[in-house]
Amino acid sequence: MPIPTLTVIDHPLVQHKLTLLRRKETPTARFQEVMRELSQLMGYELTRDLPLEECPVETPLTSFDAPLLTGKKLCLVSIMRAGQGMLDGMRALLPSARIGHIGLYRDQETLTPVEYFFKVPEDIEERLVILLDPMLATGHTATAAVHRLREAGAVSIKLAILVAAPEGLRNFHDAHPDVPVYAAAVDSRLDENGYILPGLGDAGDRLYGTR
Ligand code: URA
Repeated sequence: MPIPTLTVIDHPLVQHKLTLLRRKETPTARFQEVMRELSQLMGYELTRDLPLEECPVETPLTSFDAPLLTGKKLCLVSIMRAGQGMLDGMRALLPSARIGHIGLYRDQETLTPVEYFFKVPEDIEERLVILLDPMLATGHTATAAVHRLREAGAVSIKLAILVAAPEGLRNFHDAHPDVPVYAAAVDSRLDENGYILPGLGDAGDRLYGTR
């Protein structure tokens, strides 16, 4: 069944860079660099509906009314630790956005999320929140993160991921049908350890060179 709030970003640059991330021989430094570039490209699509207003502008030749962002407040929230890999690129595109962090790890036995850190701006209810996590596997972590953001007052939330599993998309959509999801790819399925196939492996390990 199609997920009504899902946008798969099929731009050739996005797809090319995702393939570079998937390759197991891509080294750590290059992996970080490509994830940053890819996130920045995804940022264009995520911010497509930001409001503009006409403002008077003087060019070297004349005056006219030109579009400028109205100053809609933004907040980028990284689900640690792999979300940090997407944060750099998005932040370069949206330098005035506030930054939040949610520390959640997956219990390897139960695959359920355990929170160890939560810090977001106090005025989060006034901001469009872009939640960042490269992998949507079971969807439990992103689902828990959105619950916590809502408890903190967030009203307007978008989820940006690189690779989603169909199971994760369904679980997330069942819990939060009003949160739009932006992904670079929807892969085949999860393996018995909860990894996405074909996927790109453990995004955190590949970003930081751990195992
Ligand atoms: N988290 C990852 O980093 N990779 C997966 O494939 C699934 C969850």
